[in-house]
Amino acid sequence: MAENNSLMDPQQLKALVEVGQAINSISQKEPLLQKVLDIATEAIQAERGFLLLRNDSTHEMRIVVARNISEHQAADILRPSSSVVNQVLDSNVGVWSVKPLEDFGGSQSVMNMKLTAVACVPLVLKGTPIGAIYLDSTINRQQFNNTTLNFLQAFANQAAIAIENANFIEELQLEKNWLQSELERTYAFREIIGASPKMQAVFDIMRKILNSDISVLLEGESGTGKELVARAIHYNSHRKDKSFVAQFCGNLSENLLESELFGHKKGSFTGAINDKRGLFEVADGGTFFLDEIADISPVIQAKLLRVLQEGTFRRVGDTEYRKVDVRIISATNKNLKVEVKKSNFREDLFYRLNVITITMPPLRERRSDIPLLVQHFLRKIADKSGQKVKRLAPEAIRALTNYNWPGNVRELENTIERAVVLSGEESITLKELIIPESDGDGLKSKTLKEQEKEIVIKVLDECEGNKTKTAEVLGVSLRWLHYKLNEWQVVKPVRSIQE
Ligand SMILES: Nc1ncnc2c1ncn2[C@@H]1O[C@H](COP(=O)(O)OP(=O)(O)O)[C@@H](O)[C@H]1O
Ligand SMILES: [Mg+2]
Repeated sequence: MAENNSLMDPQQLKALVEVGQAINSISQKEPLLQKVLDIATEAIQAERGFLLLRNDSTHEMRIVVARNISEHQAADILRPSSSVVNQVLDSNVGVWSVKPLEDFGGSQSVMNMKLTAVACVPLVLKGTPIGAIYLDSTINRQQFNNTTLNFLQAFANQAAIAIENANFIEELQLEKNWLQSELERTYAFREIIGASPKMQAVFDIMRKILNSDISVLLEGESGTGKELVARAIHYNSHRKDKSFVAQFCGNLSENLLESELFGHKKGSFTGAINDKRGLFEVADGGTFFLDEIADISPVIQAKLLRVLQEGTFRRVGDTEYRKVDVRIISATNKNLKVEVKKSNFREDLFYRLNVITITMPPLRERRSDIPLLVQHFLRKIADKSGQKVKRLAPEAIRALTNYNWPGNVRELENTIERAVVLSGEESITLKELIIPESDGDGLKSKTLKEQEKEIVIKVLDECEGNKTKTAEVLGVSLRWLHYKLNEWQVVKPVRSIQE
């Protein structure tokens, strides 16, 4: 076998640079491997060849692409432990040779008695062979020499790096797909709990606007699920493979917010030591969630209007306009229309942001959802901790349903989390809930009887007059409910009563 001691000529060096570029531009593994074998085969005008790669989990060398060679023939070449490929893999050094193929371990057919030129180079990464390229020819035997072997080896070194990169990209892609499906699962509609008519109305609008790009304004008190809804819209829309970017806009300094949203040019203000991409660029193709939008300054309002009208913006201190394609979902716990009337918010921007408004109902207006939410959070906590789903004592459910929830679902979630910790092994009782006994609906000044009536009527209304459901939500018996309604002479609450 020959030593590989002669250098490459300039022509080959140039070719090497070119093939290096060609393979580095292919990030998908299958086409890359094919291209590597094609280039190698053509470089020495071989008739047949294959590329071996080590399988990461089994550590076995496997043929991943082949040219003009059957699996059976390739297996013949690989079989003997003294085969040229095994030698190359053991020594990490490329070889070429001309012999009857039979000598390389080929079967004893007459065909194989022909003189065959063989070249094989290892694919080496950080000193370890990750595979090899095998080529042979019975026609162009003169092409198999030290010079071409040197070329092949240099090329194989580049190919090994390109293959490693493709492996990384493939892994990242797999991981990205996995994370993506996790996100989609987390922000699936069914993770937004709400059987009440008010939440059903929210779901109805959400479904209608999912795949359009219109701007959505989410109004509602803090903790009512505005961000949850924004994420669910994004992860169920055609933009789901691109970024969802959320930015809190309330009480941030104008300069800071402007540079966060739109980026800045190096030197545009003290501390701008580098060019910086804005979040609008990050969100390109995806969805931008602007939280607490009512508080943004006139300068930022003007820049936002431009993004909405023309899809363009400028980094702070820059002269160039950049184009972005972003769906905007904004949220506020104020009444934005009132802010417009008070001249705190531009009217034109208001109409651009507010093509569709979704109003998130406060929890006290959908008390019938409280038991469902409690169950949802208990299950979520149990899933995380791997423990059994905690039970709630009936008086605890009643207290949760009656409380006024100024912090809405967020407060309910925190209350349940705390109660689960405090309750230890037992079921959750009033003691662990730690919520004020009476709600803040101005009920404090009322008698217990009045409060009772008010709550019952409210829940009955939310359950659309369904008494069985009302009794269930309130944690009382149907008999008790009948008795009370009779006592209060409630014949027909707001909607018609059904059992
Ligand atoms: N309908 C709902 N179902 C389940 N969880 C909810 C619901 N609404 C809100 N949450 C939870 O309550 C918390 C507050 O919700 P968030 O979307 O941040 O509210 P907001 O943006 O209106 O302040 C989050 O943990 C969210 O997952
Ligand atoms: Mg929020």
